[in-house]
Amino acid sequence: MSANPSTPTGDLKGLVLSGGAGTRLRPITHTSAKQLVPVANKPVLFYGLEAMHAAGIREVGIIVGDTEDEIREAVGDGSQFGLEVEYIRQDEPLGLAHAVLTAEEYLGDAPFLMYLGDNLLRDGLTALVDRFRSERPDALILLTEVEDPRSYGVARLDGDAVVELVEKPTDPPSNLALVGAYVFTSEIHDAARSIAPSGRGELEITDAIQHLIDAGRTVSFDRVGGWWKDTGKLADMLHANRLILDLFEDRIEGTIGEDVVLEGRVVVEEGALLERCRVRGPAIIGRDTVVRDAYVGPYTSIYWGCTVEDAEVEHSIILEQTTVRSLPARLTDSLLGKDVTIEGDTAGRGRSLQLMVGDSSLVRI
Ligand code: TTP
Repeated sequence: MSANPSTPTGDLKGLVLSGGAGTRLRPITHTSAKQLVPVANKPVLFYGLEAMHAAGIREVGIIVGDTEDEIREAVGDGSQFGLEVEYIRQDEPLGLAHAVLTAEEYLGDAPFLMYLGDNLLRDGLTALVDRFRSERPDALILLTEVEDPRSYGVARLDGDAVVELVEKPTDPPSNLALVGAYVFTSEIHDAARSIAPSGRGELEITDAIQHLIDAGRTVSFDRVGGWWKDTGKLADMLHANRLILDLFEDRIEGTIGEDVVLEGRVVVEEGALLERCRVRGPAIIGRDTVVRDAYVGPYTSIYWGCTVEDAEVEHSIILEQTTVRSLPARLTDSLLGKDVTIEGDTAGRGRSLQLMVGDSSLVRI
């Protein structure tokens, strides 16, 4: 299929990839979509959808897998983001290029912005989309320098042109990694059909883009402004939470009871209740959450309907309706799923506790 020259460049569709297995974020991803884990109390995926809207995109297809119901429930018809969202089922996560082929009927001949639903870009997608609209290459990729490129798709450049892409190379040709945002013309469909699965059994988007390069198509690149984060692993999720909380201003909408000390930038959402506690920002306490006789340290995000009582928590993300009570040690660098109870005995309080706990669990310490 060749690019349709009558397709207006302004008419970009969006394709957000929110299928996948999320093996690196187990046990959370056994029961939940990793794209819905909240970063600073907002699901990761929502940042991407907002960025798409800001870049002028209105029609968005979301690739979904086993967590389809949860993603549909959170995003709905997209109107809360000013978008028209459709869902495209990918039965198995067979690779990013496979996801493109799965969406071919939805995308038709339109150029599109493909975005990985677990990625975060501080400066959004507008510069990338604007560049595509003004230069109109066959594909536009986004690159950033990384320290160890061996776990990324890596680009080799010649001046302004991308001449080679390799997926997770043992001997990287540069330190420029591909970031999870790409703009394609419909040329990519034929390219994705022409490639074979990689050693890990996936249709790799890097191979499809390489196919475009080999066919003499123009593949341009842009560099990430600000920061970029792939939230696929615990440490990256906590880092993303830090980066976003650093952009926050303080805001108090909930109730501040007796003996509460707030230090630095703290957000207390509506319906939250704080009593006899110290919260040192940057931190966010979600809607209807109770923090009592507790310490909440920097870079902590506590989502809605939680209870933190007689406990110390810092540098952690706690999902909705989870209870942390009477801990014998400070909880740090942790990710707790939804509807979890962690409780213990404060006698003989120790130094620290690091946990990653999936949804609907009970831990007694
Ligand atoms: P990845 O993080 O590369 O893959 P994954 O979600 O399977 O995670 P893990 O490696 O921990 O097992 O995927 C990037 C994004 O693309 C993520 O939002 C999931 C999505 N995706 C799909 O929608 N379909 C696919 O076939 C693949 C591989 C990923």
